[in-house]
Amino acid sequence: MTPSRRQTARRRTTVLRRRAVLATVPVAVAALLGAAAPTAPGTAGAPGAGDPYFPLSGNGGYHVGHYDLTLRYDTATRHLDGRAVLTARATQRLSRFDLDLTGLKVTAVTVDRTPAAFRRDGQELVVTPRRTLPAGHAFEIAVGYQGTPQPVTDPDGSRDGWIPTDDGAFVAGEPQGAMTWFPANAHPRDKSSYDFTLTVPQGRTAVANGELLSQRTAHGRTTFHWREPRPMAAYLATATIGTFQVQRSTTPDGIRIYNAVDPREASSAAPVLKKLPSVLAWESKLFGPYPYRSAGAIVDHAPDVGYALETQTRPVYDAAPDLATLVHESAHQWFGDSVSLTAWKDIWLNEGFATYAEWLYAEQHGGDSAQKTFDALYASPAGDALWAYPPGDPGSGKNLFGTPVYARGAMALHELRGAVGDGPFFRILRAWAAEHRDGHGTTAQFTRLAQRVSGKRLDGLFHTWLYTKGKPNTA
Ligand code: ARG
Ligand code: ZN
Repeated sequence: MTPSRRQTARRRTTVLRRRAVLATVPVAVAALLGAAAPTAPGTAGAPGAGDPYFPLSGNGGYHVGHYDLTLRYDTATRHLDGRAVLTARATQRLSRFDLDLTGLKVTAVTVDRTPAAFRRDGQELVVTPRRTLPAGHAFEIAVGYQGTPQPVTDPDGSRDGWIPTDDGAFVAGEPQGAMTWFPANAHPRDKSSYDFTLTVPQGRTAVANGELLSQRTAHGRTTFHWREPRPMAAYLATATIGTFQVQRSTTPDGIRIYNAVDPREASSAAPVLKKLPSVLAWESKLFGPYPYRSAGAIVDHAPDVGYALETQTRPVYDAAPDLATLVHESAHQWFGDSVSLTAWKDIWLNEGFATYAEWLYAEQHGGDSAQKTFDALYASPAGDALWAYPPGDPGSGKNLFGTPVYARGAMALHELRGAVGDGPFFRILRAWAAEHRDGHGTTAQFTRLAQRVSGKRLDGLFHTWLYTKGKPNTA
């Protein structure tokens, strides 16, 4: 969770289109043509969702309601065979649209079961359907693809996406790795339900999000069918594969737990995983009902990954987690998974909240009080990395997972709690989770909610703790 900060160069692609048309038609006529519905040529969907940190993540012009992913992975050769069927809706009259996909070879694309033209352009898979799609049109995109998936290297030097391990793959896509294993509208603004049909060599287990609907072995291969029915951001999808011990149980609240644990991590993981039901029950008391019907953990042995991810319903850990990490990834199910970002700049809404959950857990389970944790951090000198940038404005994708986002983000919440008192503070957290459940939330919406629930003016506090450069004064 404290990744290194090596900057990597990102190749930018610029898409300039319709020049030829505009150049040959007088401007006024072109404007008229653009406005005339029956003959309108339709426009290309944008190659990105408009996020300044990751300009090419996500795409414009359509929304994906459902992904149906059928993947076969050979753990020995690391070859992936994939078919993705996306159910989508055009949000504009659409002549052409992009999906995010990097590496891999695309073998066929159809739109509404009719072959469509496609080309690759960096991380964009550019699809031109045979006919322009009317605005509001519900359509189906099918993509056949194959190859050896490779992770992406993030601006902070960490890797994400499909990360091969010695017995399978650790699959975690924050912030941009979904495109390494399936064609997607890969920005958290677009949330969708998912089906995963994963075929792996017999003896290996493939674990995705949500519920396991079936598992069948034939001819030396096992196929796992998983379904996540609740809206999910693409970066929270997983299809982690390995040699796993599986434990299933149901909590007193009726949440179905499926844990998959690499045997090399089993003895250290066991005492922590035993606490998952009580951690979820404790968090449900604090944050409101657990947002999903399933839960669990994927404890892999992936020594070169260096982090865990809150993959929806079932976080994936690179090694046996400690209790604080389990609490952290579980808290993300409310903050980050159910309530999603609309822009990566708002990452403190995920990491500050999950970190503050760790502090609260310690406070209520015989550890340090949140105040003590706050004070110890506040004692850091002004030149410390903690104060390197404000959590509400990390400045670029390379700062997403740095200490200011996690620790100073949690400090901001602790200051809020101090200003409004415990009753209103926990009402704010619960209202946030309830009002934005299965949806999205922005920092501005959070600060407005905090003022509404507490009846206090809090702009000074948020300005200081979220947006002011350097070490804040606590006067
Ligand atoms: N959200 C994860 C956590 O808080 C961290 C993911 C880090 N991802 C990365 N590519 N560095 O545990
Ligand atoms: Zn986190």
